[in-house]
Amino acid sequence: MQASYKKIGIVGAGAMGRGIAQISAQAGSVVMLMDAQPGAAEKARDAICAQWDKLLEKGRLDADLASACKARLVFASTLNDLADCDLVIEAIVERLDVKQTLFAELESLVSPHTVLVSNTSSLSVTAIAAALKHPERFAGYHFFNPVPLMKVVEVIAGLKTSAAVCSALADYARQMGHTPVQAQDTPGFIVNHAGRGYGTEALRIVGEGIADFATIDRILRDQAGFKLGPFELLDLTGLDVSHPVMESIYHQYYEEDRYRPSVITAQRLAGGMLGRKTGEGFYRYADGVIQTPAETPAPHVADMPPVWVSPRAARRSELLQLLTNLGANIETGVSASPQALMLVAPLGFDITTVAVVERLDPARTVGIDMLMDDATTRRRVLATNPVTRIDMRQAAHALFARDGKAVSVIRDSGGFVTQRVIATIVNIASDICQQGICSPKDLDTAVTLGLGYPMGPLALGNLCGPTNILEVLFNMQTVYGDQRYRPSPWLRRRGAIGLSLLHEES
Ligand code: NAI
Repeated sequence: MQASYKKIGIVGAGAMGRGIAQISAQAGSVVMLMDAQPGAAEKARDAICAQWDKLLEKGRLDADLASACKARLVFASTLNDLADCDLVIEAIVERLDVKQTLFAELESLVSPHTVLVSNTSSLSVTAIAAALKHPERFAGYHFFNPVPLMKVVEVIAGLKTSAAVCSALADYARQMGHTPVQAQDTPGFIVNHAGRGYGTEALRIVGEGIADFATIDRILRDQAGFKLGPFELLDLTGLDVSHPVMESIYHQYYEEDRYRPSVITAQRLAGGMLGRKTGEGFYRYADGVIQTPAETPAPHVADMPPVWVSPRAARRSELLQLLTNLGANIETGVSASPQALMLVAPLGFDITTVAVVERLDPARTVGIDMLMDDATTRRRVLATNPVTRIDMRQAAHALFARDGKAVSVIRDSGGFVTQRVIATIVNIASDICQQGICSPKDLDTAVTLGLGYPMGPLALGNLCGPTNILEVLFNMQTVYGDQRYRPSPWLRRRGAIGLSLLHEES
């Protein structure tokens, strides 16, 4: 294979520069690695060669390719050595002034056709290019850590970047075995912007006392299919990294409510409870092993009351079928008998409001989250209101656990955990589409590969039903009177007419 850039320079031989050097040499380019720190490029070269030896041992790389890669990877002692490169990738310290100075110097050395890119994750590509004579040949080329395993690259166009440069960079990403996605130069680009919903909404739910960290993690893993719950994820990344990213995106969007960070992470960061790396975060770690609090077991209920289901319940026929499968004694009357457990399944509304609006006895009213199809989940989530009787709560818990599926019971809120978090993720993703930051398809690709979500936010919205997501947001906006739940117009249009969120407008 002939790489589209035959000779590339990489400035900065840290974690990212090394990874990029490895995959670009594997793609067939001659790679010149340069670092300001004496000896750093040599050390990086040794580490990358050791990596190839490991791949060779495991049979993932053949011997010829391994030695060809090693021959193609050389280190440069000064920037002058990069003068005849076709592409120079910068992966140095994340500081605008330092990056601008570096690119100004590089521009004075390289040919007019050399493409210059930055691996920045938080600075404006346009701002870095502002100091250049030829900003049209400059772009963002955002890889993820660890580069060889995270198979996505954001190709970011600054205000003056030429389209041809972006499409050549996308081709080269494919040659490296990565998937390119095209993004406009906006705070957080695609992945770090789309990722704002998951943690921040989960933190709000904790902040409102609706459920604890471990319960929220269990719900989002088992009900929505995330590999890690938001608090496990924050512990893994470390609050020293995550909290500043939350603040940065929030401020860069001029205090946009949707991205508002949480006082919970600010305080924990100040207190040094960073996560795994400090042995304590949202969870404790004993010898690196997470200590998870035990879950409340389903109660034993000898005398199960009959069950009445609100006519306004979401997925009502599925809920009735589920109750039949669980052997419930279902009441079919227009109103419930005085003994009945009253089930409601609202989208976005709290159980208290539903009981009041539907004129139900709140002491016997319990809510169930029916946003997701029950067959696709490993957990059911119930919610009580402040006056729900304990016997009714226990009856509902025992009933829905009859087939062995896990059940969580949370306190009343506007929207259940999964509803709130998924609706927030879908709404932020919709706003990214509304702003034209990227295409709906690239958004889902970038998030799936860059954040490891079970599917892209828009596919997740389609799975739950765009109209349901819209209903959750509208109702939450009413419950909380809070603009952060206002639906993006992009979502409102699609949800209102039941259109797939992955549909591209012509
Ligand atoms: P790092 O600290 O591991 O490596 C940076 C390297 O650049 C160091 O070896 C340092 O000696 C060298 N350096 C600093 N200033 C220099 C200069 N003026 N000229 C030449 N070399 C210089 O940093 P890391 O994590 O590799 O990050 C590099 C860039 O990639 C940053 O812009 C960062 O925001 C971005 N990034 C980092 C990710 C991560 O997870 N670590 C993910 C995506 C992007």
